This record gives sequence, C-alpha cells and structure tokens, in this order.
Amino acid sequence: MSLREGRLIYEGKAKRVYLISNDELIMEFKDEVTALDGARKEHAPGKGKLTASQTAFFMDYLTKSGIRTHFINWDGDRRIHVRRLRMIPVEVIVRNYAYGSFIRRMPLMKPLTRFTAPLVEFHLKNDGLHDPLILPEDIIEAELASMEQIMEVKSVALKVNQLLSELLSNHGLILVDFKLEFGVNGNGALVLADELSGDTMRILMNGKHLDKELFRMGGSVKELMEAYSTLNSILGLSL
Ligand code: ATP
Ligand code: TYD
Repeated sequence: MSLREGRLIYEGKAKRVYLISNDELIMEFKDEVTALDGARKEHAPGKGKLTASQTAFFMDYLTKSGIRTHFINWDGDRRIHVRRLRMIPVEVIVRNYAYGSFIRRMPLMKPLTRFTAPLVEFHLKNDGLHDPLILPEDIIEAELASMEQIMEVKSVALKVNQLLSELLSNHGLILVDFKLEFGVNGNGALVLADELSGDTMRILMNGKHLDKELFRMGGSVKELMEAYSTLNSILGLSL
C-alpha cells in the first residue's frame, strides 16, 4: 500500500517526518546507520525497510495488547503512518540486564547481569548534551510533563517491557534494554510514539546481538543488515 506524500517537517538521524494532516504524520525510515551521537554514519541500503517493518510489527503487537500507540499502518516499504503528537522530549530507557551507559555509570556491575527488577530511566532528549540522565523531579520542574504523566509513562514502559520480553522470549531471544518516547494527543492522553527496532533495542540470540550494538562495537553495515534480517525472519516478518 502506498502512503500519501506530505510536507517534510523534520529530518532527524534515523527518520524523515512528513505532515499529511493536522493530526497525522508519515515517518520515513532512512537507509542510514549512525552511532556515537551521529559521529559515525554510513549508508545502509535496505535498512529503512527493515527498521520500518520491525517498528510496525512491535507497535501493532503492543496496540493489540492494549497499549495506546501512535501507529496507524505501514506501507510495506520504508514508511509508517502515525498519529501526530506533542512529544515529551525525554527518552525513557527500560533495562532488564546491565549494559551500555548503565555499566559506564555503575562499573561495579558486570555486563549482562540480570536486574532483580527492571529499571526505568529518564534521559533528556538533547544530542548536544549526549542525552543526560535526569530525575523525574527535573522533568516536573522544567514542566516537560506532570507527576501523573511520569507515573503513567513508567507504568506503560514496564508493561511494554513485559509484553516485548515475553514475545521475544517465545522466539528464543533476550530483551536486554530499549528506548521509548512518548507524546500527548489532542485529548491529553499519553501515547507511545517513535520507533521500536534493532536501532532502539538490544536483543540477544545465543549471546549474539541482533541490534545496533554490532555497529556501535565497530561492526560493518553488512553485519548489521544480516543481523536485522535474522531478527525479521525469526519474528516471521517477510519483506
Ligand atoms: P534521536 O535519533 O536522538 O531519537 P532524532 O531527532 O535524530 O533523534 P529521528 O528518529 O531521526 O530522531 O526523528 C524522528 C522525530 O520524530 C523525533 O524527534 C521523534 O521524537 C519525533 N516523533 C516520533 N513520533 C512522533 C509522533 N507521533 N508525533 C510527533 N513527533 C514524533
Ligand atoms: P544506553 O545503554 O543508555 O546507551 P549507549 O548506547 O550509549 O550504551 O542505551 C540503552 C538502550 O536504549 C539501548 O537499547 C539503545 C537505546 N537507545 C536509543 O535507542 N537511543 C538513544 O539515544 C539512546 C541513548 C539509547
């Protein structure tokens, strides 16, 4: 299915965003892979279709499981159609195992130690400051969201973690950690937005990454594309 063209209103590192009506957007996933806040960037033909299909698959699954998401449909290629939201400029990270920036700030723990309970972190969405870790109180003081919204974000993030961990575990995969973004719709309701793909989640298959960590660790675009294709075939996503 082809989606209507719209007016380009934003271009980020991973996606282009087109406005198609006052409350609907098209997000086009780019054939680019970036790491280290964009310092490492390479062309990756076919990647946009893989990350769009993964996002569509996970968002559709979450919607059917009762999570309010921005997802409407996927065009079968690099674009998804979503509801336009007022975004909360906070990255919400859920962790099941110690890894990445958690280990850098808490080097007392060994990578891939399982947490007794999942951690939910808030980071300010600001590349210039490298998305610093912030407190819920910081978010409230800066009026980015209310206390009630933060509590809802946390409970939805934990529910999403439960649903995705179980889904992936049924396919023999481990969900290490992932990043979510939320927005608010015209009725003031909190909605899960943005992307869910190998670019925003760490997923292990027998200890091997099926996610962007491969590229962060210095792997090639080819290795990354093979890993994303493997993830798609395990999940039964045909392209
Ligand atoms: P980063 O890679 O750090 O997330 P970016 O701006 O480079 O930042 P992209 O994914 O390339 O990110 O761009 C997508 C943009 O669209 C992000 O700013 C994201 O917050 C925003 N966005 C996602 N979903 C929605 C939505 N439903 N309504 C409005 N904006 C959205
Ligand atoms: P994290 O360990 O905080 O960051 P780093 O990649 O610097 O080690 O990442 C936790 C999870 O969140 C991981 O699955 C990647 C995802 N993530 C994003 O998708 N975008 C981001 O900007 C950040 C910082 C993390």
